[in-house]
Amino acid sequence: MERQFLEMPPEAGDLMDERRDVTAIVLAAGKGSRMESRVRKQYLELEGRPLICHALEAFERSPVNRVILVAGAGETTFCREEIVEAYGFKKVAAIVAGGRERYHSVYEGLKAAEGCRDVLIHDGARPCVTEDIICRAMEGAARYKACVIGMPVKDTIKIADEEGNASHTPDRSTLWQIQTPQAFSYDLVREAYDRLFENPSLEPGITDDAMVVETMTKHKVHLIPGSYENIKVTTPEDLEIAGLFLKRRHVSVYLKGQIAT
Ligand code: CTP
Ligand code: MG
Repeated sequence: MERQFLEMPPEAGDLMDERRDVTAIVLAAGKGSRMESRVRKQYLELEGRPLICHALEAFERSPVNRVILVAGAGETTFCREEIVEAYGFKKVAAIVAGGRERYHSVYEGLKAAEGCRDVLIHDGARPCVTEDIICRAMEGAARYKACVIGMPVKDTIKIADEEGNASHTPDRSTLWQIQTPQAFSYDLVREAYDRLFENPSLEPGITDDAMVVETMTKHKVHLIPGSYENIKVTTPEDLEIAGLFLKRRHVSVYLKGQIAT
């Protein structure tokens, strides 16, 4: 126990400090093109509500102080009226318009989050995120200043060559699939994004926030286990799977309620 404590960086001491100011940026400004649906995937119905509501609800119940929702350029009024007001999300402090790529949307969210101490960045397309995962990300940000939620990969991964043949097979025990939330000390991630936007030649190929911090700073990004259920809804079968996970959760909450009363 003592050794573990000594190995912790000093920030770990104030993990439970309620004054920590944590903002979550929830991204919903994508086009959802791989879903090939008429309605954008973030608004598709999932377990009786627009998909984006599930992630917003997890943040609403979590200890984060406020949420910034990043919506499509023409969709901020719709999100305010039909999502935030209609479902009563009290922690949503601002709704801002996103940009062309995910990292443009994140940057808009970061600018709106100015002044917070830690920031969590979450794909609104991950409806199965839980309060527990959010808490782990918050603790990771406090302890390491930069962390991502992910899980060890279960499948063998191969690197393909230009002819479509397997060129090599990385050691699976070192591979993680990365999810969100990705959580950072605000100043660190803001500096990394500012540098990215000062160097547009570095933009291509950026797929997540950790990559921006890894590329633009010397700071290490810690990997924190999440859940295999925290999937990103990308194609139609993901919607079905997310529905099953959410349904099962609601049933077990109901059963617990029955036993408790
Ligand atoms: N996102 C965003 N702004 C963008 C692109 C993506 O806010 N310009 C958000 C999406 O709304 C989603 C998350 O980033 O919550 C992850 O992106 P992805 O799953 O790729 O969603 P889309 O970009 O909408 O889907 P697709 O790539 O199939 O078009
Ligand atoms: Mg995309």
